[in-house]
Amino acid sequence: MSSIKPQIEKRRTFAIISHPDAGKTTLTEKLLLYGGAINLAGSVKGKRTAKHAVSDWMEIEKQRGISVTSSVMQFKYNDYCINILDTPGHQDFSEDTYRTLMAADSAVMVIDGSKGVEKQTIKLFKVCVMRNIPIITFINKMDRDSKNPFDLLEEIENVLGINTCPINWPIGSGKDFKGVYDRLTKNVLAYTANNGQKEVEEKAVPLDSPELTDTVGKYMIDDLLADIELLEGAGDELDLDLVRKGKLTPVFFGSALNNFGVEPFLENFLEFTTPPLPRETEDGIVEPDSDYMSAFVFKIQANMNKMHRDRIAFMRICSGKFEKDMEVTHVQGERKIKLSQPQQMMASDREMIEEAYAGDIIGIFDPGIFSIGDTVCTPGHKIRFKGIPTFAPEHFALVRQKDTMKRKQFIKGTSQIAQEGAIQIFQELDAGMEEVIVGVVGTLQFDVLKHRLENEYNVDIIMTSLPYQFIRWIGNSDVDPKTLDLASDTKRIQDLKGNHLLLFTSEWSISWALEHNKGLILEEFGKNT
Ligand code: G4P
Repeated sequence: MSSIKPQIEKRRTFAIISHPDAGKTTLTEKLLLYGGAINLAGSVKGKRTAKHAVSDWMEIEKQRGISVTSSVMQFKYNDYCINILDTPGHQDFSEDTYRTLMAADSAVMVIDGSKGVEKQTIKLFKVCVMRNIPIITFINKMDRDSKNPFDLLEEIENVLGINTCPINWPIGSGKDFKGVYDRLTKNVLAYTANNGQKEVEEKAVPLDSPELTDTVGKYMIDDLLADIELLEGAGDELDLDLVRKGKLTPVFFGSALNNFGVEPFLENFLEFTTPPLPRETEDGIVEPDSDYMSAFVFKIQANMNKMHRDRIAFMRICSGKFEKDMEVTHVQGERKIKLSQPQQMMASDREMIEEAYAGDIIGIFDPGIFSIGDTVCTPGHKIRFKGIPTFAPEHFALVRQKDTMKRKQFIKGTSQIAQEGAIQIFQELDAGMEEVIVGVVGTLQFDVLKHRLENEYNVDIIMTSLPYQFIRWIGNSDVDPKTLDLASDTKRIQDLKGNHLLLFTSEWSISWALEHNKGLILEEFGKNT
């Protein structure tokens, strides 16, 4: 057995996904509390209060009280070493969020019990499905009036298309919330509302204990017994194989704010998910416990600390052991580099690390050499992981600098920000860089771009929004876009790598293009490699 295997076996790396306000930040905070990673409830939170979430660090996030960038947090729980990837849940979130999911081995989906499956959850869920990673569901806010739990399960199954298996079952909700019945231990975890107090006591009572009637009440028990019978008859069984393939989601009910049901959730989650799995590369599979280190860059963040004007490349280690100052091959750059100043993030607090293992996420100081999707590995290996897709932007704007004397800074700023992957930039065919078309996954990125160009590059810009809604990469390498027969509102553009694309205002124009140009291939995802 390789000597690093025990280290890798302990690791769990997951992302939390949710629609804004479902309780992702609150749940993250409670999980970190269990690991002793933070001492104070409230230090991850902040929103409209003076304090700010540990995971919110950019100024714009502070101004708006939202989490724009995704951060990474590591904590230990029992014998496990857990990496949480925070994905911004804001409705205007960016491509970063999608890419973060590429670095995760599983996902926790937080759903607000009173609202059910919401829009952003659907989008994020689709990316998880694309990767077949396990998805564990936490239905939150059971201390508020919630939808009928059977309806919630049906909604998940119908809207998201994944089977569900409730691991616990709520007894009432809102004012009548009495706790949850744990279907695995067959105990009731009783909930006692504590008048505004933020933590409630959890008390396990067997289903057949007379004490339960006092705690829960006779009517509630009758309802619960009826529900249990229904579940046994109709629900899906817990099949870990299906869970690990992302075909079945175990469902937990609880209340993150009250720290109710969080620890059992965490413990089961750790059992249900696997340590880091082998990863696909262009030349086969890489095993996590290989004797060589390999990692890929899934996110680049510049100027996290304005004082230092630095750039950090976030890497997911896929195999082997990483050691501080180790020399690696940067495969795409075709050269050897030393990985100095490795850092692990506890949001804005960075901690220097000496070593890390497959499954871990590290931040490396980037002198401007990395792009999203790049690989570093032990010299002698040339691994290229299957490309992280470029997700199609959904909003477009024409951007140019106010002061033409600032052309250099404008080009530098937009190119660097695009290299980080926060925005995508395009040009009209044969046009210069005086003005660029910026495409983003979420409109908030326009504000981030403006803010960063002003503050970090000292450039004022004029931004005009464009009516396009869809972008497609032209898949045929031998097609000259100028010869295509297109609807009048379709625009021909190219990206910085010279790939040709088309911008459409409607689905109708896409069909038109396909009908009038036989053999034309239009792709929704671009390759980053
Ligand atoms: P997000 O990261 O998914 O956007 O959600 P977040 O955790 O920030 O939670 C959104 C709101 O929901 C917060 O209230 C939070 O306190 C509340 N919340 C989270 N979990 C629960 C729960 O189990 N029960 C109840 N009743 N509320 C919950 P807020 O008023 O928007 O923010 P704040 O004023 O508390 O900071």
